[in-house]
Amino acid sequence: MPFDCEEPHPSRYGLYDPDIAHTLDRLHRQASGRDARVFLRALPAILAGKFAGRSTFDAAEPYLSKAYIPVSPEFGRFMYLTALSRGARNIVEFGSSYGISSIYLAAAAREAGGFFTGTEKDAAKAQVAIGNLKEAGLARWSDIREGDALESLAPLDGPVDFLFLDGWKDLYIPVLKLMEPKLAPGAVVFADNIHSFRKTLKPFVAHVSDPANGYESTVLKIGSGVSLSVWRGNGTE
Ligand SMILES: C[S@@+](CC[C@H](N)C(=O)[O-])C[C@H]1O[C@@H](n2cnc3c(N)ncnc32)[C@H](O)[C@@H]1O
Repeated sequence: MPFDCEEPHPSRYGLYDPDIAHTLDRLHRQASGRDARVFLRALPAILAGKFAGRSTFDAAEPYLSKAYIPVSPEFGRFMYLTALSRGARNIVEFGSSYGISSIYLAAAAREAGGFFTGTEKDAAKAQVAIGNLKEAGLARWSDIREGDALESLAPLDGPVDFLFLDGWKDLYIPVLKLMEPKLAPGAVVFADNIHSFRKTLKPFVAHVSDPANGYESTVLKIGSGVSLSVWRGNGTE
């Protein structure tokens, strides 16, 4: 991959770069309309699922293949700023959907002269995400790996400076464990939806909250709960 081959991008505009700003504006507007319609369509199944004792996610999942479920502009910008301040060069994302969060992260990677790698198991979404990164002017500094992240991230080269977990929640721990040997000391790990998937993500929060596992961590009241962890290393590297 072109990581390490690029000089830092000279842009001083960051997220105000007109190509990035227009693409993000279009995508955030498109996402709110589309996702409202998807959840309305899924509502009967969600209510029926409640009576049958199924989780909201399990009941809604068949409807989600066309949903964006993106980060908010505030959280996207927060991750961009965090990556920028760390000078993160190798940035990785689990669960890219149509590429909204990917644009924030690829913009940070570009400024550090690095590379962004996203992952998306839905082939149609992955192709649209690649197109959206291109529209934002970030194609040279980014890629979306199509397929299951557990497979597509296995051959990825470290050290990874920044990891964002936003795919299906039961895979946060397996993806994190896959990435741990590749994390750079001081790597930042963000994970979304901590409060909305409190039960499913309890073991994940427990893992990153135990200093014996090599992290310093907190949960922030951003959106539906965001876990922010810094990798200190587990003493094996
Ligand atoms: C919440 S959405 C991601 C939203 C995106 N991060 C954003 O902010 O625009 C979760 C995405 O993860 C994808 N996903 C779920 N499991 C995955 C897996 N095992 N590998 C790759 N992608 C996965 C889903 O298809 C879905 O598009």
